[in-house]
Amino acid sequence: MSSMVVIGTGSALPERILANTDLEKMVDTSDEWITTRTGIKTRHIASKGDETSKLGSRAARKALSMSGLVAEDLDMIIVATITSEISMPSCACLVQKELKATNAFALDLNAACSGFLYSLDLAEKYIKFDPHLKILVIGAETLSTRVNWQDRNTCVLFGDGAGACIVTGTDQERGMLASNLYSDGSLYKLLYMDSAPSMNKDLIRPGNDGSYIKMAGRDVFKHAVRCMDDAISSVLDQTGVSIEDVSLIIPHQANIRILKSLVDRLGVPLEKFYINVYKYGNTSAASIPIALDEANRQGKIQAEEYLLLCAFGGGFTWGAALFRW
Ligand code: UT7
Repeated sequence: MSSMVVIGTGSALPERILANTDLEKMVDTSDEWITTRTGIKTRHIASKGDETSKLGSRAARKALSMSGLVAEDLDMIIVATITSEISMPSCACLVQKELKATNAFALDLNAACSGFLYSLDLAEKYIKFDPHLKILVIGAETLSTRVNWQDRNTCVLFGDGAGACIVTGTDQERGMLASNLYSDGSLYKLLYMDSAPSMNKDLIRPGNDGSYIKMAGRDVFKHAVRCMDDAISSVLDQTGVSIEDVSLIIPHQANIRILKSLVDRLGVPLEKFYINVYKYGNTSAASIPIALDEANRQGKIQAEEYLLLCAFGGGFTWGAALFRW
């Protein structure tokens, strides 16, 4: 029985950096509040040319280069995003055009901050069906276009960026061992965004409260910790791998305090977590693949080691996946 392996990773961040000290001049906040409550110090913000599909394509080119494949080798492109620059066609079709991946079919997947995990899970189902498939999985977001820059409760939290990986099948005993996904739509009002995106800036009216991300932060925080803990436990139970055997955990990067609470519940050292929230903020579906690419390029994941991914986001959606690298 073949399983799905990652053969290339890549990431891309906009050049422009917004520091907490910049935000102090925009809303009633402080570097001290943002740092202690979230762990975030800076975030990257998209400029013209950094549209979601462009960031996704830049990350994809790096992943392709690492994998030794070219765009024409791709059979499928999945883009996890909630912030494509247009509603239709999909961001994935724009990526396909940008890469000239003429042999791939392309689709978007909306599972908010869990989108990359959901996309990996979907890719794995296709690869189980045909292990020769080469699939590009991207998480890409430009959340800066959807936050209310006058709302200090949300505007300090998010950032822009993209991460990508190329996956295919293997007969070796490694790759994705298990993935468990969950949703609870009954709680959607705790974290949502109710407008359609648009490249047409005239349609994004200032003061139009409907078009921005809204979050009941404290409630989301509690659910995030409990749900990720449960998802991790269930994926470990299913595979018989213990948390001590896991070399690296790459969680969705939303808040350092969420990660510290998770560390306490799991009883593992914080060093087992790959953390970069301090420099990028919450990049939603892009956060795991950006972190995965960084950890991979820094040699933090060695062959045959166990790697755990976990996410929580709007929907609610959440889940965990275990890999033997
Ligand atoms: O990626 C999807 C999942 N998202 C998450 O996981 C986010 C989960 N939630 C969180 O990370 C945290 O709840 C937040 C960072 C959003 C907020 O932290 P908190 O410790 O839960 O703060 P709070 O919302 O309870 O607010 C505490 C106080 C309030 O003032 P009062 O009512 O106590 O006077 C807020 O008005 O902090 C105030 N506040 C701020 N003060 C300075 C809220 N935002 C700011 C700000 N600067 N930026």
